Amino acid sequence: MKIDILTLFPEMYSSVFASSIIKRAIDSKLIDINIINFRDYTNDPHNKVDDTPYGGGAGMVLSIEPIYNALEDIRDSDSFVVLLTPSGKVFNQKVAVDLSSKKHLILICGHYEGFDDRIRNFIDLEISIGDYVLTGGEIPSMVVVDTVSRLVDGVISDESLDNESFNDNLLDYPVYTKPREFMGYSVPDVLLSGDHKKIDEYRNEERIKRTKENRPDLLEK
Ligand code: ADE
Repeated sequence: MKIDILTLFPEMYSSVFASSIIKRAIDSKLIDINIINFRDYTNDPHNKVDDTPYGGGAGMVLSIEPIYNALEDIRDSDSFVVLLTPSGKVFNQKVAVDLSSKKHLILICGHYEGFDDRIRNFIDLEISIGDYVLTGGEIPSMVVVDTVSRLVDGVISDESLDNESFNDNLLDYPVYTKPREFMGYSVPDVLLSGDHKKIDEYRNEERIKRTKENRPDLLEK
């Protein structure tokens, strides 16, 4: 999968994609991430990418031309263009699964008071990572890249993906490792029983219990 990120702050990405699973996925050419500064696409003599809002109001609005010019340069018939904005559809595992089947993702990150609304005519989907406002779309784009990349074929094992939170609208079951006892807290006996049927039953019950406690809204789905 190819992922292009359009941003005014390319330096924010340098460490995030340089470690752990994402780095490995890049090194093994399962994903290819390009960070593109859309300031490079402005026709303004002073490299301006924003302006004051028509009708008045606080702050600066990102102009449409640099973003449109960048899209024209990089998009093709395989591209799927996502705008990161707090007014988008709320991101979740299902949206991530849908995005993981795309050949080419283009993520557009805003800053300041938002985008010239006409950008919405040139994109496929608007995504918000949650009901709160960040200073820009960069961190949300990292969240999307991280979540989607691990679902790309070959990045992590199918077994790891099978039993994790949000599959079947249930949260993950608890896991433990050595030591067996810690500060009076012990590992549940069933996990040491060697009885795999019982272990599966226990884990399933724990998934339901945890979902009831922390995310009853998921059970209603
Ligand atoms: N930009 C600012 N806040 C955001 C959010 N919650 N989701 C996506 N993009 C954003």
